[in-house]
Amino acid sequence: MQLMTGGIGVAGSIVAREFARQGVPIRALVRDPVKGASLRELPGIEVVTGDMRVPGSLGAALDGVDRVLMISSPRGDMVDTQCRFIDAAKAAGVGHVVKLSGKESGTAFDPQAFRGTRWHLEIERYLEESGVAWTHLRPSQFMQTYLPGALTGVDAARAALVMPIGESRLSPVDIQDIAAVAVAMMAADGIEGRAYQMTGPEALTMTEITESISAATGRRYRYERVTADRKRALHAAEGFPPEVVDLLDEIYAGRRGSPESVVELSTHRAFGVEPTTFAEFARRHAADFAAPPAS
Ligand SMILES: NC(=O)c1ccc[n+]([C@@H]2O[C@H](COP(=O)([O-])OP(=O)(O)OC[C@H]3O[C@@H](n4cnc5c(N)ncnc54)[C@H](OP(=O)(O)O)[C@@H]3O)[C@@H](O)[C@H]2O)c1
Repeated sequence: MQLMTGGIGVAGSIVAREFARQGVPIRALVRDPVKGASLRELPGIEVVTGDMRVPGSLGAALDGVDRVLMISSPRGDMVDTQCRFIDAAKAAGVGHVVKLSGKESGTAFDPQAFRGTRWHLEIERYLEESGVAWTHLRPSQFMQTYLPGALTGVDAARAALVMPIGESRLSPVDIQDIAAVAVAMMAADGIEGRAYQMTGPEALTMTEITESISAATGRRYRYERVTADRKRALHAAEGFPPEVVDLLDEIYAGRRGSPESVVELSTHRAFGVEPTTFAEFARRHAADFAAPPAS
């Protein structure tokens, strides 16, 4: 039996659908049974309730499980959540944890200067030292972060991508590609003790991103280049808590300081996944980008 966590989140919901689409059975841990209803409708998904931070709640989830795909939220509690979960998995006899991690594509990006990548490195180290077999899947920025309504998404009402990262290039990757790799990894032999980096197929400026969205929607999107302070003020006005504003400020600073990005497609190739271009992603989501979200 195999288990995934985080199956109703941004990345996990697409991964769960990929398991269902391929007809690969999976058990999915959710902490809120009401939110878990969306997963119960998927064929081959067994939904169990529990909290990754509460070992006593994980008995049914971990019973008979040999491999886990571990995903949780990129928030301040991520290190504690995933490390407590690794402890529980080890105690329950899980043999292998595949961790959805993260790695920025910027060639000069310092992972220690951004708390998100720092947290992932800390968890990776904890997992490596746990004695449980491990695999790290390290995607770059998700393409889905540009969708209207996402934390750092476009302003669909104004057809603008408002960013404080100048002309830096990023290599975002489609979560659908990550999902295909993750499903393959759960059945793969010989991936223990390895870290897999994964980006999209192009390093793009924000102007090039908006050109793809414009071409897909027929609506002219533009890149609105703003200062770091202006972006902080906009996020604060959107009602983001100060710790989220600080986290985003750190990642924008790292991206400003790293004008170039790598393109790393070896993981796509290793698992037979065709890389999705941003233009293809934008066409698939043309309806989402085309109009402001309904209020
Ligand atoms: N955004 C990017 O561009 C990017 C790039 C590379 C890597 N990543 C990494 O990808 C990972 C997933 O990100 P995401 O945006 O998909 O996160 P997300 O939308 O917040 O989803 C996380 C999921 O984890 C669940 N979860 C959190 N704490 C839990 C707990 N204690 N017990 C059980 N379930 C728990 C959440 O359940 P609830 O709904 O109950 O809260 C949710 O389903 C993060 O580690 C992030 O750093 C992100």
